[in-house]
Amino acid sequence: MKKNKISKEWIKRQRRDIYVRKSKQDGFRSRAVYKLQEINEKHKILKNGYLVIDLGAAPGGWSQYVIEKFRNCKLLSIDLKEMEPIGNSYQILGDFNEISSKEKINNYFKEKVDLVMSDMAVNTTGNKNLDSVVTGELSLEALRFAKNELKPNGSFISKIFMGSTFNEIISEAKSTFKETSIFKPPSSRKESKESFIICKRLK
Ligand SMILES: C[S@@+](CC[C@H](N)C(=O)[O-])C[C@H]1O[C@@H](n2cnc3c(N)ncnc32)[C@H](O)[C@@H]1O
Repeated sequence: MKKNKISKEWIKRQRRDIYVRKSKQDGFRSRAVYKLQEINEKHKILKNGYLVIDLGAAPGGWSQYVIEKFRNCKLLSIDLKEMEPIGNSYQILGDFNEISSKEKINNYFKEKVDLVMSDMAVNTTGNKNLDSVVTGELSLEALRFAKNELKPNGSFISKIFMGSTFNEIISEAKSTFKETSIFKPPSSRKESKESFIICKRLK
């Protein structure tokens, strides 16, 4: 499919989408915020006072949710793209996997954190299989990053795609965390291969 055809369809779909309209009414920057809300309502991953890292945070819906709903959380938001500031969250512009980003993260917290959350995705190419493989690699890297950054018993959630890396992520998550489950939030588009892995209690 041609790129301008994809973007026309994307614009049409955005206009029809109730979560896009709701996010505008509620003052959130993206419809993705409802996925985090639904994950948290079911799996209770967030608490007041938590130290939280938001990987792939732009434009900032998930970070807004943490700042607005949970008191005294210390939040770090990182993305390859620039974001408008969000409350007192500390923002890093860059790749989470670069050494310089990891240094900034460790200098900021100076201790291990309670939750690493990742909604990271690559820019789509239009080739769903290729997109799901590359995003799968990103989820695996996020899981390995979380292993190093989390306190014992800390939690990790990540977007994952049904695809070739799915089983590898599940088996690595199971050997790293005491509880692992898969959840597709109701606000995640049905036609999307996206789900979320919810990992609790780092071993
Ligand atoms: C679906 S968006 C995130 C939406 C966000 N959760 C929200 O609520 O607004 C995915 C983001 O992942 C980011 N991303 C992809 N690879 C990344 C990487 N290696 N390091 C940091 N961010 C990355 C993209 O730039 C993009 O902004």
